[in-house]
Amino acid sequence: MAGGAHIETGGRHYEGEVTAFVLITCFVAAMGGLLFGYDLGITGGVTSMEPFLVKFFPTVYKQMLDDSSTNQYCKFDNQLLTLFTSSLYLAALIASFFAATTTRLFGRKPSMFLGGLFFLIGALLNGFAINVEMLIIGRIFLGFGVGYYNQSVPIYLSEMAPAKIRGALNIGFQMMITLGILGANLINYATSRHKNGWRVSLGLGAVPAILLCVGSLCLEETPNSLIERGQHVKAKTMLQKVRGTNNVDEEYQDLVDASEAASKVENPWKNITRRRYRPQLTFCSLIPFFQQLTGINVIMFYAPVLFTILGFGNDASLMSAVITGGVNVLATFVSVFCVDKFGRRILFLEGGIQMLVCQIVVGVMIGLKFGLNGQGSFNKGEADILLVFICLYVAAFAWSWGPLGWLVPSEICSLEIRAAGQAINVAVNMFFTFGIGQIFLSLLCHLKFGLFFFFGAWVLVMTIFIAFLLPETKNVPVEEMNYVWKSHWFWNKYIPDDAVPPAYNSSKAAP
Ligand code: BGC
Repeated sequence: MAGGAHIETGGRHYEGEVTAFVLITCFVAAMGGLLFGYDLGITGGVTSMEPFLVKFFPTVYKQMLDDSSTNQYCKFDNQLLTLFTSSLYLAALIASFFAATTTRLFGRKPSMFLGGLFFLIGALLNGFAINVEMLIIGRIFLGFGVGYYNQSVPIYLSEMAPAKIRGALNIGFQMMITLGILGANLINYATSRHKNGWRVSLGLGAVPAILLCVGSLCLEETPNSLIERGQHVKAKTMLQKVRGTNNVDEEYQDLVDASEAASKVENPWKNITRRRYRPQLTFCSLIPFFQQLTGINVIMFYAPVLFTILGFGNDASLMSAVITGGVNVLATFVSVFCVDKFGRRILFLEGGIQMLVCQIVVGVMIGLKFGLNGQGSFNKGEADILLVFICLYVAAFAWSWGPLGWLVPSEICSLEIRAAGQAINVAVNMFFTFGIGQIFLSLLCHLKFGLFFFFGAWVLVMTIFIAFLLPETKNVPVEEMNYVWKSHWFWNKYIPDDAVPPAYNSSKAAP
């Protein structure tokens, strides 16, 4: 069978329970998701608010008014406007590399605190902006915040969480991203009627940032980070506190061993390029790339703009963004309940097919109405059908590539390549989030309705890729992932025999 494999491993189980302490860490992680999601959701609404455009992007506004009877596809195509949207992600990409060093040398807490602080400065600069420069500098600060936070929190979480709830915690992070997006859409909806509403929308990002700064100061450092920085006694006490038991010797010893092994690796970046890590390198690079090539952020950033273009009124456009934001949250629950039961592959495959069908329907509908010259509009009934298909597309993403795009890369890497794998995942994700944000409006202007077929074609490619190359990782302990690769038809040749116990190899050799 192409991708699936039945894996038998002898998993380890450490003693311990889900303590209140661990739940507090979930809460802080959740706030990181809120920050990221708030950013993703707030911009599209703000850039469709008239007073905002008039103040900062008068040429775009003028272009919009002048163009009202001509080509709808190119109305908003303005490089400065897209730079405003996407500058944040470029800043986040750069910051994630600095964050990797801060996290390693000084611990996870300082990175989280810095993330919150950068975000706070960014939100204030944006809320009080008097010119475009202030806006863009503010967004760069927001980006630093997102980069620092997205880099340190998943590591903090996976180090604090007991293995049995690691998957759920991971999707909890995505859940908070979607709540952040929905919250932002609702705030935009409320503020859009007011002259200075955009200031409120942008400035309110300061609230979760303050909570985050305070929250990170109250948290404790992870045992792994304490061991990494030579504080062994404190690390053991911390592990006992986190797990709620004194019997942590086995886990503690494994952490010390893993830390020693990881410290022997001279260059983690070079290490992950070794042949035996080819599957991890491939998935840590391609999963975030494909996640962005689903085209989801066209909806997340530009839903209000897109709906305005398609002839929904200003209010209706923001309302539609609220609807798609709500669907995004609800559908994420589906993956929380299904991911450990039915597995990752089935969600990826079903989600891919559903997204493809929706993209074809939306592309055809827009093509039939607006043709090549971009002139036309939808009547109420047609607009509703279009909205339904856009919601079905968002739902499919929300239970497949959304959460799995963060979960799978984080669960396939062993300790010695985890930091590098995670950094690659974040950086590739941010780079393509930036790229799509930057080129979407001009792609729409040039590819017209074909844009939906463009993303559809990518969805087809990634679905085939998953079908053939991604093995099922459900319920496989992270440290036993080598069995998965070793029994996969394609990846097995990359995994040396010494990566799994000899008994496993001889049982495979038997007919
Ligand atoms: C993606 C974001 C996207 C969001 C939508 C995340 O997993 O990384 O780019 O906007 O999901 O919910």
